[in-house]
Amino acid sequence: MKVWQYGLLGLGIIFLVIQFVPNQLPEVIENNPKDLMGSGLVEGEMATLLKTACYDCHSNETKYPWYSFVAPASWLVAKDTREGREEVNFSYWTDIDMMDKLAILDDVYSEVEEKHMPLPIYLSMHSEAKLTPEDRQKIMEWAEAAMDIVVEEE
Ligand code: HEC
Repeated sequence: MKVWQYGLLGLGIIFLVIQFVPNQLPEVIENNPKDLMGSGLVEGEMATLLKTACYDCHSNETKYPWYSFVAPASWLVAKDTREGREEVNFSYWTDIDMMDKLAILDDVYSEVEEKHMPLPIYLSMHSEAKLTPEDRQKIMEWAEAAMDIVVEEE
C-alpha cells in the first residue's frame, strides 16, 4: 500500500471508532402541554415560522436529521441543541414567570434583528429555516405584540 492509502485507511478506522462514542443528543419529547404553541400567544403563520426556524434547538420537539446520528456531526448537533434549550426552551413557556418571558421576547427581537438566529451553521443544512427580511420583520413585530399581551395577562 502507498502512504496515502494507509492515511485513508487510518481515517476510515477513526471514523468507525468514533461511532461508538455515545452521541448525547438531548431527548425528544413530543407531548408538551406547557408549550408556547398552546399558550394562545402564537398562531397560524407565526407558529409555523417559529417551529420551522427555532424549534429544533429551542424546544423539546427537535427533529434530528440522519447525520445527527453520525459522529462527528452528532457532537455539534448535540451541543447546539443542548445549549439552545438551556438558553430558551419554548416547551416550558407557561411555567416561565412574567419578567423572564419579557426578557426572552426582547432577546428574540434582537437576535432575529441582528441575524444571530437561527445559527448560521444550522442554516447551511436547513435552507427551509432561512428567514427573509419580511420573516424577520414579522417575528420582531410578533415579539413586541407578545410582550404587551404577557404584561396584560399578569
Ligand atoms: C441550531 C440551533 C439553533 C436554532 C435553529 C436557533 N437557535 Fe437560538 N440559540 C442557539 C444556541 C446554541 C444559543 C445559545 C448560544 C448563543 O446565544 O449563541 C441560542 C440562544 C438564543 C437566544 C438567547 C440569546 C441570548 O444571548 O440571551 C434567543 C432569544 C434565541 N436563541 C432565539 C432564537 C430564535 C428566535 C430562533 C429562530 C428564529 C433561534 N433562536 C434558532 C441555537 C439555536
